[in-house]
Amino acid sequence: MYEIHVVRKDNRHLYERYFDPYFRLRHDIYVKQRKWMALDRPGGREMDQFDTEDAVYLFCIDNGQLIGAMRALPTLLPTLMSDIFPYLNIREPIRRPDVYELSRIFVIPERRGEHAGPRVEMLLLTAIMEYGISIGLTGFSIVLESWWLPRFERCGWKAHPLGLPREMDGMSVLAVLVDCDHTTWKSLCGQIGFTRPTLSWHGLGGITRRALPDISTLLPPTAQPAR
Ligand code: COA
Repeated sequence: MYEIHVVRKDNRHLYERYFDPYFRLRHDIYVKQRKWMALDRPGGREMDQFDTEDAVYLFCIDNGQLIGAMRALPTLLPTLMSDIFPYLNIREPIRRPDVYELSRIFVIPERRGEHAGPRVEMLLLTAIMEYGISIGLTGFSIVLESWWLPRFERCGWKAHPLGLPREMDGMSVLAVLVDCDHTTWKSLCGQIGFTRPTLSWHGLGGITRRALPDISTLLPPTAQPAR
């Protein structure tokens, strides 16, 4: 069974071997497959100015292979929303210790839409909320394509638009603020049939973590995991 690992500056040395494949996968997925040519960089690795030591990554690892990932950035520092797409947020700029910005969620093509167990993408959505609760976050800001909204609605993520969608390179893109709360996390765990936390905190024993709500009594869903 694959695991989702929190990787941040404190334990990055334990995951160094995954970073080259990680940035290469980002290049394959965003530049080659999705054709987001603005992200093209020499060397076939997609990295940007936000891949600093303050970025937090969730790596989904299966038998030593990286099969999915997501990035979280503190909004007290520069983010995509503050520096690249500020016009998408018509409200107050978000610079809050309790809000992180999410970006670069992906699952490798051969592991998308799985039916044999919880989808990797659902695991990542569950895991990032677990991370947020654990470090005391109340929300996630995201610049996203509008096709995410019905997906969020289906899985129970509460996304509040911060402005109207705008057309960009043929995509409809908007800024949202998503609630990070116990209720959503418990609901996600129920949907994927988990009665234990999803995250591995390998090498992060020194981090103070808040208690998670009890999910040991959640019954596995009678229906199929959310798709
Ligand atoms: N445009 C519109 N809808 C999309 C989409 C896109 N580029 N990518 C996924 N979807 C929606 C569709 O509704 C799709 O349903 P379909 O099979 O009927 O087309 C549904 O998501 C399922 O997507 P799928 O890719 O089969 O599986 P998944 O749910 O396991 O993974 C992602 C979803 C987004 C994680 C995966 O598609 C991925 O890694 N994509 C590339 C990276 C990316 O674009 N990330 C988002 C921006 S950072």
